[in-house]
Amino acid sequence: MNDFSREPEELIQIEIANCERVIRSGWYILGKELAEFESSWAQYSGCRFAVGLANGMDAIECGLRILGIAPGDEVITTPMTAFATVLAILRAGATPVLADVDLETGLLSLESAARCLTKKTRAIVPVHLYGRPLNLPAFHDFCTTAGIYLIEDCAQAHGAKWKNIQVGSLGHVGAWSFYPTKNLGAFGDAGALTCNSEKLADQARILRNYGQSVRYYHPVQGFNSRLDEMQAAILSARLMWLDRFTQKRQAIAQTYYSKIANENVELLRAPTNEETHVHHLFVLRSKNRETFMQQLQNDGVETLIHYPVPVHKRASCIGIKVDPNGLEHAECHAETCFSIPCHPGMTAEEVETVWRSVNAL
Ligand SMILES: Cc1ncc(COP(=O)(O)O)c(C=O)c1O
Repeated sequence: MNDFSREPEELIQIEIANCERVIRSGWYILGKELAEFESSWAQYSGCRFAVGLANGMDAIECGLRILGIAPGDEVITTPMTAFATVLAILRAGATPVLADVDLETGLLSLESAARCLTKKTRAIVPVHLYGRPLNLPAFHDFCTTAGIYLIEDCAQAHGAKWKNIQVGSLGHVGAWSFYPTKNLGAFGDAGALTCNSEKLADQARILRNYGQSVRYYHPVQGFNSRLDEMQAAILSARLMWLDRFTQKRQAIAQTYYSKIANENVELLRAPTNEETHVHHLFVLRSKNRETFMQQLQNDGVETLIHYPVPVHKRASCIGIKVDPNGLEHAECHAETCFSIPCHPGMTAEEVETVWRSVNAL
């Protein structure tokens, strides 16, 4: 699904030079490298501010906390996401409420989200899942009408856009993960929060550093979630290659859309002209997914399932609040979905092996 050993040599040389610069600087936490990456990331993602954090889960929790979400508040999100999305809501002390997904895409359905609204709802955390941008103006209008905050989980969607709107730029907060497998990945854990409010950005900077405003002064109880200089320097190097990597993912996805033809397999809806999809994952659906996954494995192709168990069926979340109409689409998606390789290190031959293997059954 990923092969990090295929990092282009030219990029490796820049990464080595950046790491050497950090080592020789003698400054490893909250320094120039972070400031530089934050400024580049804000610019790239179309936001005024970026605040580097230790990982993507912290970015969601931090976003909720700076918006004042607290115990007793309900936050709507999707059951079809990394567990971290829901865990971050729980860690902020709020109550997650799971809405169903759209069957064509696997992404959060606004219709279902509307059924989840109550007097206690304070925010929604939609996920730009698999690299596909949600209809941001529609989510924005939904939040304005309901009087709630929009926190975009952009962990899988670096560079994705709805029309010309960058994901993470329309909500009150955008939350990013730079986990190594992400479209922009560090060489360890890393994350960031983006926003357009200076006040919120300042609050996030305080929260990530124990709640410290000035040395030894702690107006709030924060946590330790700093993005270190080494990871920031790696991310600055890799950001320069992000568009090339994205174009490669998009070309692979386009090949799959044009070549995969098997009546026992369904593709998720192809991106429309409005969606700049960055194809973090390429997901298929089949009632016989085990057979397909076995066939691909026999042809030397790794596959994974994102995600086999929707959040409300995980042992630690039994009894979690859900759409009163249930989560039928999410359950169906979880039972049938599987992901085939779609990463920038793939060769044309490997891409062909994958679609031929899917078509062969
Ligand atoms: C959709 C989504 N949200 C949040 C996260 C959490 O990011 P991290 O692993 O950096 O904490 C991830 C990463 O797995 C993710 O895919």
